[in-house]
Amino acid sequence: MSSRRTGLLASVGATIPVVAAPMAGGPSRPELVVAAAAAGGVGFLAAGYKRPEDLAAQIQQVQQSTPRFGVNLFVPNPVPIGLEELDRHRAELQQWLGDHARAGAGWAAEVELPEISSLAGVTSAPGEVWEDFWEQKLEVLEANPVPLISLTFGLPSALDIARMRATGAKVLQTVTSVAEAVSATGAGVDGLIVQASSAGGHSGTWTPRDPPAEIDLLELLQAVSGRTELPLWAAGGIADAEGVSSVLHAGAEGAVLGTALLRCPESGTHPVHQQALAAPPGVSETIMTTAFSGRPARALRNSLTEALTASAPSGFPALHQLSAGLRRAAGAASDPHGLNLWAGTGFAAARSDPAGEVMRCFAGGHRI
Ligand SMILES: Cc1cc2nc3c(=O)[nH]c(=O)nc-3n(C[C@H](O)[C@H](O)[C@H](O)COP(=O)(O)O)c2cc1C
Repeated sequence: MSSRRTGLLASVGATIPVVAAPMAGGPSRPELVVAAAAAGGVGFLAAGYKRPEDLAAQIQQVQQSTPRFGVNLFVPNPVPIGLEELDRHRAELQQWLGDHARAGAGWAAEVELPEISSLAGVTSAPGEVWEDFWEQKLEVLEANPVPLISLTFGLPSALDIARMRATGAKVLQTVTSVAEAVSATGAGVDGLIVQASSAGGHSGTWTPRDPPAEIDLLELLQAVSGRTELPLWAAGGIADAEGVSSVLHAGAEGAVLGTALLRCPESGTHPVHQQALAAPPGVSETIMTTAFSGRPARALRNSLTEALTASAPSGFPALHQLSAGLRRAAGAASDPHGLNLWAGTGFAAARSDPAGEVMRCFAGGHRI
């Protein structure tokens, strides 16, 4: 371990070893990223689902306040799904909407699920291959260089990693297993984000048809440490200063906070989601589910996860697109039961304090 390279956080001028995770879908807005830097840590913009021009605008907005931040990208790794299987899932969603409307949720009766032939990533249908504007986002990063780029869902080609590094950025790859860590190390990235299955939101797994192995963060960190000398950032279920201390003692250079920041005023988390973290709508625990997006993700339990998790197939982004209108309508109606309430296992500790305060408090006495 003594030969492990550190210094990734120091190289960008961070003074505390705490990172604000990229969280797509709203939470990681520029305000959160700027607050993370002001606290001495590092924050990430989440490029996932965003249009390239909106990513460029957010990068420029953050750059007006700080040069110290990163951008996170979804690496194209779609999970195709057959028409019949998708149709079955659509019918289950329709059934849930009917049941939910009969239970008193008027909004659910108004939702019209899209026709499955219009969705991307459906086999034997004319859906386009979904790349989340990968090429265009690389061009945005070439035109607007940032010091850190993190990647999730898969490993890009060596050529694309080289393109990102040629912008001057250090590239970090999210890994969820020893095998992924070994491949990423061989691919020439600058650091690894070691993400355990306790993490909130989508798992970064490169093999999304298999639910990520339920392995404790410290165990995963130790297993990965033995196989790479890259700097490691640890993610998943970190809920207090002790959690940060333990990952640093286990050899991580940084601790990544996601769920712990979802209720902070700087984060753009949907208000219904924020409230659900404080007062969960169902059994007060999280569950790994493909019901909303077709990729394994950890969420608070609610009526939709209870009804659909057991039967939901894999299929990304088809399932994500299929449920988009439903989720939007649930949010507009302030109904947590139809929302993807992404949350890590440590959600109960999430507070509504300013992000900088949370990050400094979690850092405790640790400095870089
Ligand atoms: C709402 C939400 C959205 C997320 N979106 C992304 C994302 O866009 N890209 C990514 O690499 N990870 C994403 N993640 C995972 C986080 O980056 C991080 O690994 C995770 O939150 C750490 O676990 P914790 O939530 O238990 O702290 C998301 C997590 C949450 C809770």
